[in-house]
Amino acid sequence: MRYQLAPLYCRPWTLNGISARLIESHYENNYGAALNRLNVISREIEQFDFSKTSDQSLARLKRDEIVALNSTLLHELYFASLGGDGRVLPDALANAIAKDFGSVDRWRQEFVGIANGLAGGSGWVLLTYVPRDGRLINQIASDHDQSIAGGVPILALDMYEHAYHLEFGANASAYIAAFMRNIDWSAVQSRYEDAIKVAPPRPLEQKQFADVPSISVEEVREMLESGTSVQIIDTRPKHYTTKAQDIMEGAVWRDPERLDDWIGTLSKTEPVVTFCVYGFHIGCETASTLRKAGFDARYMSGGHFAWKAIKGPVRLFDDGALVNSRLTVTS
Ligand SMILES: [Fe+2]
Repeated sequence: MRYQLAPLYCRPWTLNGISARLIESHYENNYGAALNRLNVISREIEQFDFSKTSDQSLARLKRDEIVALNSTLLHELYFASLGGDGRVLPDALANAIAKDFGSVDRWRQEFVGIANGLAGGSGWVLLTYVPRDGRLINQIASDHDQSIAGGVPILALDMYEHAYHLEFGANASAYIAAFMRNIDWSAVQSRYEDAIKVAPPRPLEQKQFADVPSISVEEVREMLESGTSVQIIDTRPKHYTTKAQDIMEGAVWRDPERLDDWIGTLSKTEPVVTFCVYGFHIGCETASTLRKAGFDARYMSGGHFAWKAIKGPVRLFDDGALVNSRLTVTS
């Protein structure tokens, strides 16, 4: 395929303190060069002879391709970021920025601070929407190819020297100030409105347990740290626990196949959290059974390994612990 050139988005003659000459040079020599490079690489990949050339050559081409593609995309975003007066943010965007950065001023300090930190070096400063978490984040893309996976950048500042040296020399901070004075906030807001329509990654769905409430490992950690009374039951299968080395701190192990033996030891006045190895079936089934018996039970999403992945505290799960758990049940 051939990538098409995008026309210049901003009107260079309207910019305040950034000359048309600088934008023209940037558009023609850097954006144009990136697009041309991208098309050359793209053609090379299409014509790649897999029988004669090494996989390493292909990998090099693919690395070059992502650099040229991102340079193309980010330059288009950069030119589309300019053309306003940089002052008033539309309400929806201002509220979103305030939610994620504390205030618009804090966002501005962080964004400009990052840019100044890049002065003398090179890279991009981007304001990016992350659909996974529904939030905005400032990021550095120091070699075109470091954009957040799945992120949607909505504002871009080019900190490569070619973006300012012609006019500002080494005075990067004057260039940054000029950029901030020219941000087209209504265009940024429009891109934000488009970005928030991007769905987050699909969550794990377990349709058979759709009516059983879950709790995240982070929420369980908060409960424990705040001293909330909660009964945490590790229901990893017995055959699994014989090789298990650790158990979540604060949890007791109970054999899921002998639920009738230990259900009477639980209190109905305190919430119950159950979990198994990965959070798929046994923890959910146990929570479901307990709920039917009148307990305020939920299963912990992701199970034992999710707890370990957030570095939740664990203790040694030796034979003694297993024996003690059994003794507690039978005593
Ligand atoms: Fe550039």
